[in-house]
Amino acid sequence: MSVEQRGVTVWFTGLSGAGKTTLARAIYDELKRRGHRVEILDGDVVRQYLTKGLGFSKEDRDENIRRIGFVAHLLTRNGVIVLVSAISPYRATREEVRRNIGDFIEVYVNAPLEVCEARDVKGLYKKARAGEIKNFTGIDDPYEPPVNPEVECRTDLESVEESVAKVLGKLEELGYLR
Ligand code: PPS
Ligand code: ADP
Ligand code: MG
Repeated sequence: MSVEQRGVTVWFTGLSGAGKTTLARAIYDELKRRGHRVEILDGDVVRQYLTKGLGFSKEDRDENIRRIGFVAHLLTRNGVIVLVSAISPYRATREEVRRNIGDFIEVYVNAPLEVCEARDVKGLYKKARAGEIKNFTGIDDPYEPPVNPEVECRTDLESVEESVAKVLGKLEELGYLR
């Protein structure tokens, strides 16, 4: 028999380049190392499979988030720690997913737009500024920050290790880590 584990979805929301993927991967590695069941649902990856064909209109982003939320719910109720890294720009849609899943921790991955743009991890801000990509979050598309996130990581001010420790600390505090 496997050891009982309470499932939970840890939902990383924030601008492109804020650090969602970096934090999800680092936390995945640490939880795996400790022997937990854990999965990542990353917007960039999910959009190649589960939500292939969806774009970046409000309707398509909401559909993307609802499908991710659906899979996260299935995994969560089967005892998996699910790490979702997706911009998820709309507050009401995140709240809807939170209500459905129940065991849900929202992590606001927060760095100022200027910092995300200076990082320009994938060169997308440059393209957005040049008008080659339309509806880019933070440039010509909205981002609604969380009002009461369980965790906020100021990734312009703290190291990856500090941000990881904050999230793990919250999981521990809420009793999700054995
Ligand atoms: S959303 O809003 O939650 O549905 O977005 P998500 O599924 O996380 O996908 C975001 C990734 O898509 C790339 N990309 C864009 N992001 C924002 N706006 C526009 N217009 C856009 N076009 C492509 C980008 O790589 C995002 O990944 P991250 O990791 O956030 O940079
Ligand atoms: P996103 O998935 O939100 O678009 P990425 O994880 O791809 O963002 O990129 C974030 C960048 O910021 C990486 O280059 C990462 O090394 C850097 N970074 C600096 N500090 C942090 C931190 N505390 N947490 C996460 N990323 C950080
Ligand atoms: Mg990413």
